[in-house]
Amino acid sequence: MERTYIMLKPDALKRKVAGEIISRIEKKGFEISEMKMLNLTEDVLKEHYAHIAEKPFFPEILEFMTSGPVIGMIVEGDGVIEGMRRLMGPTQWVEALPGTIRGDFAFSTGENLIHGSDSVENAEEEIKRFFG
Ligand code: TYD
Ligand code: MG
Repeated sequence: MERTYIMLKPDALKRKVAGEIISRIEKKGFEISEMKMLNLTEDVLKEHYAHIAEKPFFPEILEFMTSGPVIGMIVEGDGVIEGMRRLMGPTQWVEALPGTIRGDFAFSTGENLIHGSDSVENAEEEIKRFFG
């Protein structure tokens, strides 16, 4: 069964929409097989976000992602990687359509509520990173 790493970012918890987001994942029919709350360190974020580490906005992302706890999840299902990316909506908040998580709740590209792996390879690497 395909699996992906999903993470509810600090804004989802601060804004009290974590339950709503988890509910959408459940209603879609995907299986949440593991879930935990955790506080991220800068070291783990530099690994997880290596592909944006050189971007000018990266210091803000580090500050945001360490501003409070996150919820990490392993989510399983056929086509779950692409399926979750579609439920989330695209990275740029203006492009995220209503009906998607980012489209309904995000009005910032940096603070966009949710992370989802973008490939099988990255999913396995991220699951290993956050769940061991
Ligand atoms: P990325 O992996 O490209 O997006 P996604 O989360 O959709 O997989 O980027 C990681 C995070 O970096 C993204 O969720 C928010 C932040 N980010 C910005 O703040 N501005 C940007 O222009 C991009 C590309 C990302
Ligand atoms: Mg990404």
